[in-house]
Amino acid sequence: MNVLDVAQNSVAAGATLIRITLEADEEQGLLTLTIADNGKGMTPETLAHVTDPFYTTRKTRKVGLGLPFLKMSAEMTGGTLAIESEVGKGTVVTASFGLHHIDRAPLGDVASTVAGLIQCSPDIDFVFTVRAGGEEFCADTREMREVLDGVSFAEPAVAQWLREFIGENTQPILQRSNII
Ligand SMILES: Nc1ncnc2c1ncn2[C@@H]1O[C@H](COP(=O)(O)OP(=O)(O)O)[C@@H](O)[C@H]1O
Ligand SMILES: [Mg+2]
Repeated sequence: MNVLDVAQNSVAAGATLIRITLEADEEQGLLTLTIADNGKGMTPETLAHVTDPFYTTRKTRKVGLGLPFLKMSAEMTGGTLAIESEVGKGTVVTASFGLHHIDRAPLGDVASTVAGLIQCSPDIDFVFTVRAGGEEFCADTREMREVLDGVSFAEPAVAQWLREFIGENTQPILQRSNII
């Protein structure tokens, strides 16, 4: 849910490339989610208020608790939320969670989440990377696009293939590291 919500912000910001990285660091005991986009970015003013759910002037915030909720989820597990953003350049949201903290929400079905995201925004490029236990998997829609030769990621058969492809490659890595 967090991934969807935050990545949706990148889509809304007009990003053409969104990088989603999930990295487990056993030594530090942290699970880090990074969502980086090349969208329109935020002004320092927006950035200053974006994690405050009680910011009421509603000039910059319309609805939703995406980032405040992510911040709360991260901090509940002894982690942190950091946001870097520059107007015209893009935004990087980094949420770290206590890997083995009892309050860390289960990771859920990341493969379906990411595949669904790609299916819903078939013209945006995504790079999804999972890193854990010295292993890495990376799915890059720019490379897949060449193979697809014009067939859309919105095509149900393509979306299903993508979900299976991501799932088959990320689940073993996450399982071997006891993340799922
Ligand atoms: N990646 C991003 N790029 C540009 N602006 C962003 C990004 N993420 C968040 N924002 C800004 O912060 C606001 C708050 O985001 P969020 O907490 O997810 O709530 P909502 O998306 O419902 O407005 C957004 O409306 C947008 O103005
Ligand atoms: Mg949002």
